[in-house]
Amino acid sequence: MVDAPKRMTVPRFAALKGKANRITMLTAYDDPIARLVDRSGAEAVLVGDSLGMVVQGKESTLPVTLDEIIYHTEIVGRAVKRALVIADLPFPTFHLGEHRAIEMAGRVLKETAAQAVKLEGGTQQAKTIAALVSAGIPVMAHCGLRPQSVHQLGGYKVQRDEDQLLADAQAAADAGAFAMVLECVPASIAKSITAAVPVPTIGIGAGPDCDGQVLVTHDVLGLTSGYVPSFVRPYANLRETISDALVRFREDVREGKFPGEEESFR
Ligand code: KIV
Repeated sequence: MVDAPKRMTVPRFAALKGKANRITMLTAYDDPIARLVDRSGAEAVLVGDSLGMVVQGKESTLPVTLDEIIYHTEIVGRAVKRALVIADLPFPTFHLGEHRAIEMAGRVLKETAAQAVKLEGGTQQAKTIAALVSAGIPVMAHCGLRPQSVHQLGGYKVQRDEDQLLADAQAAADAGAFAMVLECVPASIAKSITAAVPVPTIGIGAGPDCDGQVLVTHDVLGLTSGYVPSFVRPYANLRETISDALVRFREDVREGKFPGEEESFR
């Protein structure tokens, strides 16, 4: 009998810090993509609040609700058999005090198969991170560009304040975060943070020296119809593939070529 692949756990993920083989994390919001991401061997699947923009076609991640995150994480959590499943805490669930944060993150862990939550912030969220961790809820922090603070930051801009970025990363690690996303940070600063903190850094637009990389899967697959950031490398052009297939189907239907005999019952 072949052994089932070993399930990624939070301690195993944290122990990947500094390893030569970098960590891969990808987003998923539904069953088919979650299964494919899991099959790729990625160490973590993130149910990101990017679902607001990627799936719901909204302008930002701000409208995403906790119920929507739970809905999608329940689906992804059932599909994934091997990777670590992490759910984003949407705005403003973790700004409402430590008890509310535990209540809401607790719902995610009770109602889905997520093993951890992710939240945006460093120094300002350190108390909340510590409270969640003390309640047994593993936290991945998210420093650098925090898309939920887009209005305060004045747009989706590269974050360059090295002292603040280092302080945020250090505060998140000190508070007990088991890993952190670094988004839109100059490569040299991400490298310094990666050397300074004892937990894995997962970069997105943060250069090659992080312990791992994360991208939105729809961007990697070339499925995104709107703006695609310059730090993305698309590995497929599924928009074109899907569009071609749908046009060919429509043509076959119009010309009476579908269904054929083999697609019809006798
Ligand atoms: O919401 C999300 O998908 C994210 C990743 C892009 C890191 O936060």
